[in-house]
Amino acid sequence: MHDLKVAIVELEDEDFEGLRDLYGPIFRMAGYNAVATHFKSENALMRTLERSHYHVVICDLSLGSENNWFGLRTIKILKAGFPEIICVGNTRGDLTYQQTPYPSFDIFVDKGKLNREQEKYQKQIAEQFRRIFRQNVDVEIDSESDVASSKRFRDPQDKTLQSIVCQVTFTTHTHDQATDIRRVKLEPLTGGRSGSDVFKMVGYGASDSLSFVPAVLKISDIDNARREWDNYRRYVKWLIPFSWRADVLGIAFTKKFGALCYSFIHSRGRSFDSLTRYIEMGDDSAITLLAETILSPDLKRWYGLTVQESNISRRYLQRFFSEDGAEVASRAQFERMIRVYAGASVSNRKFSLGRREHRLPHEVLLRDLRGAYTSCLCHGDLNSNNIMVSSAGELMFIDFQHTGWGHAFEDFIMLEISVRLHWPQPNEAAFSDRLEVEGSLIEFGASVQEAELKQISLVRRAAVDNFPAESFQNYLYGLSAMIFSILRYGSVEECRRARLLPCLVASIAALESA
Ligand SMILES: Nc1ncnc2c1ncn2[C@@H]1O[C@H](COP(=O)(O)OP(=O)(O)O)[C@@H](O)[C@H]1O
Ligand SMILES: [Mg+2]
Repeated sequence: MHDLKVAIVELEDEDFEGLRDLYGPIFRMAGYNAVATHFKSENALMRTLERSHYHVVICDLSLGSENNWFGLRTIKILKAGFPEIICVGNTRGDLTYQQTPYPSFDIFVDKGKLNREQEKYQKQIAEQFRRIFRQNVDVEIDSESDVASSKRFRDPQDKTLQSIVCQVTFTTHTHDQATDIRRVKLEPLTGGRSGSDVFKMVGYGASDSLSFVPAVLKISDIDNARREWDNYRRYVKWLIPFSWRADVLGIAFTKKFGALCYSFIHSRGRSFDSLTRYIEMGDDSAITLLAETILSPDLKRWYGLTVQESNISRRYLQRFFSEDGAEVASRAQFERMIRVYAGASVSNRKFSLGRREHRLPHEVLLRDLRGAYTSCLCHGDLNSNNIMVSSAGELMFIDFQHTGWGHAFEDFIMLEISVRLHWPQPNEAAFSDRLEVEGSLIEFGASVQEAELKQISLVRRAAVDNFPAESFQNYLYGLSAMIFSILRYGSVEECRRARLLPCLVASIAALESA
């Protein structure tokens, strides 16, 4: 039998003991051994919950004052701070729905009824508890876990982290000693960009002879985690083939954070690496493979259903320029960088390269509002860190925080930008020469020599083959908008951002002349 940590809030010792004895059999019916602790006040309870992880709180609704329902207030505060704790509201008096505040208890127990119809009522409460309680009460976090790089937790024994691990490793209430996860070890994983804490998580059970599949624990702020979990269920689980994606093994939610536990893409004894590593090695096999499989028009999954939308500018503005000051910051970086790297002169609305004059990107991208575009389901953040590639030629998507409806070319554009940012031999030619080559790349027919640009051609070709009816101008628009936004990202080294400039200028020029 597995220990369940239960807090009972009661003013008198006698009442605590009475409740402990009444609830013991109920939790036993549900499969747990309740270890009860007595709290005499709301303050004492809250202080303890800040430090230790409890599974259940049982609170009398009146707490000593029959008509004032003081306990309801305690429950409201408890559930607001610790929504993951199951709260049993327990009373003898009559209570109307209007009297219960929100947040409120999870299970209501009528003590009078419990005394009168003991076993039948006990069974019903036990059933109700089993329906809503979803935690593995036996799991511990190994003290050697490395959480030093975490943005949220200092200590592997942090009680919120513990609650998250209990939730994601929950299986069923019917325990099997041999197969329960008892301990997990966390190691940080790098390569993420969203501010989440991402760990490799390995589970251990009672016997070393049975090993668990390694997992990834991704802890995010609650809204981001909710979005990723929703997107996974709506757009991944039933739509993307099992062999193209990580699976969700468990989820967890606390007041501020949410976590998704994914299958680790390394599980079948093959070596997987992110697409970024392949690009960094100048290995063109991965992009070729991508174009032949996940991006192939013959195997369309997300890209199969299209819808016509009316305002492409709004789509890109919302996605990349909705933060305060975004446009100003991108503009300042562009004006500085185009002077430094291309020797351009910049005036109020224009910049000049040699004899040619162009409108500044923000004018072209954010002032002239553009029209119709094709929308489809997209991964939504298909940068090369979010595609895993195996030595045996398998490809897998991870990271579904932005998955959903978007511009048909969005995923392709992000991939193209990843190739540009990570290619190992940056093009050292003069700016004007690079601009010319970018111009010929836009004219699909012209052949390009550089290996990097050949990869980009492949990506663009795949985009056009998937969506032949979508105007390539919209590709150039999305590409320019994304590059213009990246110029302000201090997290990307300046020398890498600078590599994007000729492409941005060539795309803007093509948009202007259209
Ligand atoms: N299922 C997985 N298998 C293996 N590695 C993973 C998996 N999920 C994430 N990672 C690694 O962790 C990194 C960050 O995870 P990700 O979900 O992309 O977070 P973020 O939203 O912060 O970008 C990835 O770039 C990858 O290197
Ligand atoms: Mg990512």
